[in-house]
Amino acid sequence: MANTLTGARPLSWPHRIRRFVDVGSTFLAIYWSYKRIQRNKKLTPAERERRISAAHRSSAKRIYRLATRMEGLLIKTCQFISSRADVAPPEYVAVLSRLQDRVPARPFRDVAALIEHELGGHPDAIFDDFTRRPIASASLAQVHRARTKDGRDVAVKVQYPGIDRVMETDLRNIAILVRILARIEPNFDFRVIMAELNKDVPGELDFVREGHSSERVARDLSHRADIRIPAVVWEHTARRVLTTEFIGATKISEIPKLIEQGIDPNQVALIMTEAYCEQILVHGFFHADPHPGNLFVLPGPVVVFLDFGLSKELPEGFRLNYARLVLALISQDEDQMVQAFRALGFKTKSEDPQSLVALGQSFFESTGADQKPYIDADVMPEVNERLARILNANPVTEIPGDILLIFRVLGLMSGLQKRLDSHVNVVETITPYAQAQAARLAELAEGSAAG
Ligand SMILES: Nc1ncnc2c1ncn2[C@@H]1O[C@H](COP(=O)(O)OP(=O)(O)O)[C@@H](O)[C@H]1O
Ligand SMILES: [Mg+2]
Repeated sequence: MANTLTGARPLSWPHRIRRFVDVGSTFLAIYWSYKRIQRNKKLTPAERERRISAAHRSSAKRIYRLATRMEGLLIKTCQFISSRADVAPPEYVAVLSRLQDRVPARPFRDVAALIEHELGGHPDAIFDDFTRRPIASASLAQVHRARTKDGRDVAVKVQYPGIDRVMETDLRNIAILVRILARIEPNFDFRVIMAELNKDVPGELDFVREGHSSERVARDLSHRADIRIPAVVWEHTARRVLTTEFIGATKISEIPKLIEQGIDPNQVALIMTEAYCEQILVHGFFHADPHPGNLFVLPGPVVVFLDFGLSKELPEGFRLNYARLVLALISQDEDQMVQAFRALGFKTKSEDPQSLVALGQSFFESTGADQKPYIDADVMPEVNERLARILNANPVTEIPGDILLIFRVLGLMSGLQKRLDSHVNVVETITPYAQAQAARLAELAEGSAAG
């Protein structure tokens, strides 16, 4: 199986083509539903707003149904959209949030067969009280609660049978789209994005690796009493079954429930911000999927991180240059900004630094005049328009693959901060983490000046 990425065979061609057609026709229908409203010049502003909201709701439902039929990467995409309360219309957030942990589940007999194959016994033989009905089901797996023979309360995450073939198919179909896109937009190198996806997706299907990633982050953050990561129960873990200590906590997006327990959402937002500053800037290894289905809160507050399937290791040089970029952005030092972007691997068509400066500035501009800890949707049209104008003159032709999951985290964090109605001062919080890397940075610079 030399040319498969996940080790699984893709679905048959008729299946693959149907996926393409299903996705394509759904998006065309959605496009038209908006276009019709846009073209209708006779609508009063109030009526237009009402129709747009109705179109958001029906489009979100269409996408929801499509995702539950398609599974795989489409569910992951919907989880991302539903986590972007900062920029996505509330209708999308409401409908698609169900896909964070309430995807229609597989029948128990399929789950039992997979456990038997992976762990060598029927779930009822291996565990006490293995619950028939899953407590949650998400993009790759469903989770059942059980008790081990020695009395530990556990969550057993069982991969959906056949999901590896779906993922393999998605990767191949996306590769085709990327090739088409590359023709339409020859200036940009999409291969970088594809290469990163090809690395991340197979990793997500390997639960042994996921267990190790969770232990690594747990070690890195073990000094923090306000962060908890469930322990892995290795004797009941295999490539497609991950058993962890069960933690009964509140989903991070259930704000009224948090408040009822005396938990301050802003304190939760601060813990999250610090956790990501430390993972990315200090350890260079991070949980890359902070959507609300993977984050829970216990009184304290203690933030619980679940699901390390999508974890990322940064090369040391990349991590340090990222710290350098952060410092340059904070101090608004345009020269440093451009140097850091280039050192990270950003490329533009011409030597003109204006595009990279504009990109750097857009980070701040997008949070509004009062520098919120999340993107301000009201200022985005203006920021995007300005950025597009500058990028048109000198396009960014390449972005480094290693930045993609950092961008993903930044996007998800922005959505989360908005949900938590956070007033965390991000600049103040991140500065000491970035500055702590300054000494290493200087060493690196000296080394390269000497060499
Ligand atoms: N150790 C645990 N304790 C409590 N609930 C858990 C635990 N592990 C998973 N869950 C529940 O199962 C859901 C799916 O698990 P997750 O690891 O996120 O799977 P996926 O990779 O498919 O997203 C979570 O959103 C959470 O509700
Ligand atoms: Mg998850």
